[in-house]
Amino acid sequence: MTDIPILTIDGPSGSGKGTISLRVAQALGWHMLDSGALYRLVALGAMHHHLALDDAAALAEYALHLDTRFEVPEDGGEIQVYLEGRNVTRDLRTETTGNAASKVAAIQPVRAALLERQRNFAMPPGLVADGRDMGTTVFPEAKLKIFLTASVEERAKRRYKQLKEKGLGVSLRGLSEEIAERDTRDSQRSVSPLKPADDAVLVDTSDMTIDEVVQRVTQLCRQAFAK
Ligand code: C5P
Repeated sequence: MTDIPILTIDGPSGSGKGTISLRVAQALGWHMLDSGALYRLVALGAMHHHLALDDAAALAEYALHLDTRFEVPEDGGEIQVYLEGRNVTRDLRTETTGNAASKVAAIQPVRAALLERQRNFAMPPGLVADGRDMGTTVFPEAKLKIFLTASVEERAKRRYKQLKEKGLGVSLRGLSEEIAERDTRDSQRSVSPLKPADDAVLVDTSDMTIDEVVQRVTQLCRQAFAK
């Protein structure tokens, strides 16, 4: 596994990680791990099956046997996600699922149950891994680790726009509060808290366009992975 090139992109919600990771993975022709989707899937499945979001043993068992499939459309459109055979792409992105995901993600046995599954995404020619603890816990040996950040206000604005485009109604103020709350929970939890790896490159995207961030990350990749 160690000779497979791995780029980790960690950071809080709304820092642009998802979009940037996908764009960089496409540009490099590498595989992509959206680790947040796994926590969202566990949360969604738990809600479907009426598992309590604090029942560590039941959630870990569910996470270990998570029956999921990711389909990458040929036309480069949005990755389609299936849970137990059902397309859940839309349900996965709601704020309710995101908040529930952040709760199940704080449970150590759930994280342990998903560890091996995440590591299995590392395949040639390379992997872009998007999450919170990619550089610190899941792929500590990754050659390039990036930590993206942006102010809470900017992240709330981006999320608001994204959700609106998808036809999901939310309030900007409510989003800001939820993002701040989720940040606190993600960075203060005792297991795999959200924090940059010691050897991560920090990129503040508050005043950058998506294209500028992609350019910066691609440039860092060229330096790190040059033969
Ligand atoms: O990135 P996304 O918003 O999809 O992640 C949903 C939640 O899953 C986050 O708020 C975080 O609590 C959790 N998560 C995590 N570790 C990861 C990825 C996501 O704890 N590597």
